[in-house]
Amino acid sequence: EIEEGVEEGDIPPDLFDFILGHEKVKDLIWKSINAERPVHILMVGPPASAKSMFLGELARLPFSRFTLGGGTSKAGLADFLLEFRPRYLIIDEIDKMPMTEQSILLSLMESGIVARLKKRMREIETITTTVFAAANRDNTMWAELKSRFFDIHLKEYSEADFVNISRAVLMTREKVDPGLATLIAGLLSRYTRDVRDAIHFGRLCKTEEDVRSLLQLKFPSKGLF
Ligand SMILES: Nc1ncnc2c1ncn2[C@@H]1O[C@H](COP(=O)(O)OP(=O)(O)OP(=O)(O)O)[C@@H](O)[C@H]1O
Ligand SMILES: [Mg+2]
Repeated sequence: EIEEGVEEGDIPPDLFDFILGHEKVKDLIWKSINAERPVHILMVGPPASAKSMFLGELARLPFSRFTLGGGTSKAGLADFLLEFRPRYLIIDEIDKMPMTEQSILLSLMESGIVARLKKRMREIETITTTVFAAANRDNTMWAELKSRFFDIHLKEYSEADFVNISRAVLMTREKVDPGLATLIAGLLSRYTRDVRDAIHFGRLCKTEEDVRSLLQLKFPSKGLF
């Protein structure tokens, strides 16, 4: 699905403020935003590594449009590009994008050329669009599409990152009491690096006993780390 985007205004100065860490990624994306000519960015990484958060923030850029890899048809993407002429095209889960649609991206990203058939006439236009995309894996993407991106691979969080990010998300967004947030982040760090696990525990648990009992249920083995 192609969603509404921002039509006007300046680049929000607080872009990425809610994303903890990832300083080099933020720096790279700012460089791309400020580059005179498009450098498309692809983020590849494990679940809950803030990829969608980044794309959500980029959808706040003026003349930005957000789309899901699984959600557009071939005609839809070309029509959409020509009608809206987005300065930034944000594609989450691009690894789920059908091959037929990836072909539209090939020419958009290389030359800005978008072509479509309209009333049996071939309509061709050139637009300037920077693509920001994310995927869990890139082995289903064409090599030639990947080559058009500056692609970066996000690593699983370290123990310290996991604890800090989980604790902060629990306390701020999830309104979990600081003591319980610290306990959940610390205990879970022995078993997982997935911030969503911490969020689930934060939503389900009111006491330390709740946390310990659910830990046994979810992670019956000794722990991964
Ligand atoms: N660095 C971070 N700063 C703040 N919140 C984070 C960070 N990393 C993960 N989170 C939180 O973890 C959850 C998952 O993040 P997000 O949806 O961006 O992950 P993702 O990389 O898109 O994962 P997936 O590959 O499963 O789609 C969100 O609630 C997000 O706020
Ligand atoms: Mg995501």
